[in-house]
Amino acid sequence: MREFLNLDGKVAVITGAASGIGRQTATLFHALGARLLLTDIDAARLTGFAAKLGGDVLTATHDVTSEDGWHAAFGQVDAVFGQLDILVNNAGIMMSKPFVDAGIDVLRRQMAINVEGVYLGMHGALPLLRAAIARGAATAAIVNISSVYGKVGGAQFAAYSATKGAVRALSKAVAIELAGSGIRVNAVLPGPVATNLGATWEAPTDAAGNPLTPEAALAAWTSLIPMGRLGDANDIAPLIAFLASDAAAFITGSEFIADGGYTAA
Ligand SMILES: NC(=O)c1ccc[n+]([C@@H]2O[C@H](COP(=O)([O-])OP(=O)(O)OC[C@H]3O[C@@H](n4cnc5c(N)ncnc54)[C@H](O)[C@@H]3O)[C@@H](O)[C@H]2O)c1
Repeated sequence: MREFLNLDGKVAVITGAASGIGRQTATLFHALGARLLLTDIDAARLTGFAAKLGGDVLTATHDVTSEDGWHAAFGQVDAVFGQLDILVNNAGIMMSKPFVDAGIDVLRRQMAINVEGVYLGMHGALPLLRAAIARGAATAAIVNISSVYGKVGGAQFAAYSATKGAVRALSKAVAIELAGSGIRVNAVLPGPVATNLGATWEAPTDAAGNPLTPEAALAAWTSLIPMGRLGDANDIAPLIAFLASDAAAFITGSEFIADGGYTAA
């Protein structure tokens, strides 16, 4: 029988690993035996976290919009670990603005990070992922972090929703092309999860356009979720780990929602 959820012998790159879902995913991957390259634009937070994880963890200061940054990251993985089995395209931003006020810059900024970053990452990873299969790995895996807002619309999140819908379609298209290669591509769609996402952007507003207090924003999010609570990064990381592992050997081109029932209604 295939062992469930074991990343022993695997090497993974996780972007946006300094915070939230990426950080929790890194913690779980490490506990499951993977060697890691963790990347983020926030170098101080990333290195502080990685030092706590311990051995077999590399870090890179990396902006996912930079093609050169991706080349450097994969070069580092190859030089130190000599292999790559898993890419988790997690880094992302969410900008909240009523559509009427959101100029094209709001879409372009999020497209650059949330979509172009994923595209560049998948492109750059392919040679090493192919090498993993050639070397005898059962599967290699790409897990792209989309959002429930790529499936249903989010008021004040039009541009973000567009980018996350793009991640779903992109993941499926690449999955089909790679299906015969042993490289699997899947998308995870988290619902509202308590992280730092959106913390540096404008607060959501009420119907009258007044900014919501953090407490009011939290209550508004929570009221949307049938399970009655926001998600935690721990609610998402195991799903990512499963899809990255050989336990998911027959799963590609699929998408998985973890949202406390938010999109079930
Ligand atoms: N938190 C949620 O409610 C939620 C819901 C659905 C999807 N997501 C998605 O989950 C992913 C992780 O978000 P999170 O909630 O953990 O947010 P977070 O803000 O806590 O973490 C995101 C990390 O990405 C990094 N980052 C931002 N821009 C970057 C760039 N250009 N290059 C490299 N790193 C960059 C940040 O520094 C940060 O450490 C994102 O793709 C987000 O869209 C989150």
